[in-house]
Amino acid sequence: MSDHNKLKMTKMNYDKDRPKAENPLKIMDISLRDGHQSLFATRGRTEDMIPVAEQIDEIGFWAVETWGGATFDTTHRYLNEDPWERLRTLKRYIKKTPFSMLLRAQNLVGYRNYADDLAEAFVERASINGVDIFRTFDALNDYRNFETVVPIIKKCGKHFQGCICYTMTEPRMGGKVYNIEYYVAKAKDLEKMGADTICIKDMAGLIAPYDAYELIKALKKAVSIPIHLHSHFTSGMAPMSHLKAIEAGVDIIDTCMSPYAYRTSHPALEPLVMTLLGTNRDTGFDIKALAEINEIFEKDIMPKYRHLLDDTKMSIIDINVLLHQTPGGMLSNLINQLREMDALDKIGEVYKELPRVRKDLGQIPLVTPTSQIVGIQTVNNVLFDDDKERYKMITGQVKDLCYGLYGKTAVPINPEVIKKALKGYERGEEPITCRPAEVLDPELKKAQEEIKGLAVDIDDEILYAIFPVTGKKFLRYKYGKEQIPQDMLPKTLEDAKAELELLKKAKAGLLVEKKEAEESPEECENLREFKVFVDDDYFKVGVEEIGGAPVVSYVQPAAPASAPAPAAAPKPATAAEKPAAVPTAAPASEGSPLTAPLPGLIVSYKVKEGDSVKKGDTIVILEAMKMENTLPAHTDGVVKEIKCKSGDNVAKGDVLCVIG
Ligand code: CO
Repeated sequence: MSDHNKLKMTKMNYDKDRPKAENPLKIMDISLRDGHQSLFATRGRTEDMIPVAEQIDEIGFWAVETWGGATFDTTHRYLNEDPWERLRTLKRYIKKTPFSMLLRAQNLVGYRNYADDLAEAFVERASINGVDIFRTFDALNDYRNFETVVPIIKKCGKHFQGCICYTMTEPRMGGKVYNIEYYVAKAKDLEKMGADTICIKDMAGLIAPYDAYELIKALKKAVSIPIHLHSHFTSGMAPMSHLKAIEAGVDIIDTCMSPYAYRTSHPALEPLVMTLLGTNRDTGFDIKALAEINEIFEKDIMPKYRHLLDDTKMSIIDINVLLHQTPGGMLSNLINQLREMDALDKIGEVYKELPRVRKDLGQIPLVTPTSQIVGIQTVNNVLFDDDKERYKMITGQVKDLCYGLYGKTAVPINPEVIKKALKGYERGEEPITCRPAEVLDPELKKAQEEIKGLAVDIDDEILYAIFPVTGKKFLRYKYGKEQIPQDMLPKTLEDAKAELELLKKAKAGLLVEKKEAEESPEECENLREFKVFVDDDYFKVGVEEIGGAPVVSYVQPAAPASAPAPAAAPKPATAAEKPAAVPTAAPASEGSPLTAPLPGLIVSYKVKEGDSVKKGDTIVILEAMKMENTLPAHTDGVVKEIKCKSGDNVAKGDVLCVIG
């Protein structure tokens, strides 16, 4: 038996005569995209990638993943960075290694299917701006959603990597839906579509080592193009699955540099390099060069992101993932969202509700955007449903999914949920069965018209077309029409160090004494505010720069957002709180306020002041957790006052309008 891919060891002096492997394992580094997306909500800034970029280029990676996924969204929404510019900037430093992006097929880098004209323009511009490999996936594994983008990828002469989202309904691969035949059939479909490589995209770290072995063996037999494995560490199995996949002959593997590895991210590269050293799959990578990159990450970069890391748990492994199948990014989003809504104690209920919602919605894989769709609907169900009624607040995206706008689900959606979701749905109450984009009107021209005068080039226009609200906001900052908010500015290493010092003092109780001494200088106007979480306590910290060194001018425990109700059980939040319970309610105008049930971004109002509304009429669209929520009138009456506008960020409980 001469199996080329079997691991073979050679005896040698590794330093002096490390032989070149017969079939070296190829590696894609994904620290700069999925790594920080998984660990710190995609908040990594371009300026923090540049210091390691040239060294990364020297390692010999098959590719580096630098773009796509959530990067397009977070750069412009939170970091005041132009997503296109990130690509061009990194390309100046990483010249040899191809760039890979994660493309959500017809969803592009957003959360719904876009029209064909926009999809074509996006892929073409991504290619021109520097993407070489388009790792393309559809959240439902419905390859009709590949039909528009793939010919453009090919036309641009780029690499089309087709993904199969790996998911399960059973504790291990198998069962009626997602069994080995399912994956083999999908791989054959991709090969037929002209895929250059196939990626098994295991976004939640579900693939077990022996399943990985069996699956890779089967795929290698069924298709002739290279197979790539992408597996998250979340459950702790990924390093073992990697090794079994290597034994089965996998061609390419994704890893992160160690500071960006593990937890909900990916296995680290360095142990794998050592594991394969001297075998016929030796990567050939220089471990010392990797160590140098790690030191920069560790000392100069990671401290700035420490506050974003989830340090609530000691364990780096989440066993629960094997039960609820939640991908890393989704998990950190859910935790953040619940925390903002003072409902972190509901996480257990969320885990319980999640598989029920997923089943109702057709056992869909959990990956962006379906992970958000299932996630936010789950949170809504937990917060707003009662014994009498389920699915009280259905998001716009769940309605779209029920209509068929995302594609075909692996098993049919619960007809009860379809009926409820599509009642009064604007496109119709009967679901479609065609390729989703066929029912979408072209949208690029319309967007170009709307953003005329602000956008200067096609990249601006595409940004706006995909993200109308946050995209427009960003373009206003970009072209100096509006001042950039303080919280979008980068944190310096000095800021990070000052914060850490403060944390230490806060923990030691030293800050309380300082406050009593009343020696605090006057606060200056451009004080930078930071939120600091210490265990269960939350501090607001103001930092003021004097003569180059940041000086702490005050630190105070923030007023708890939800003060415990005296002598009464805490009441769950409801969509329409009593006016008295809302601090920002305006008693001046008579009527009853509609408040935000959850923090988010106002997309648009569907009414104006003076309009008559009936209970249940749509008043405002609120985007939370990237999903659009339709907020209905809680009472009949006339819209007396509209309190916010499109693009405003609102906190839970803020008054959105007054109806009387
Ligand atoms: Co991933």
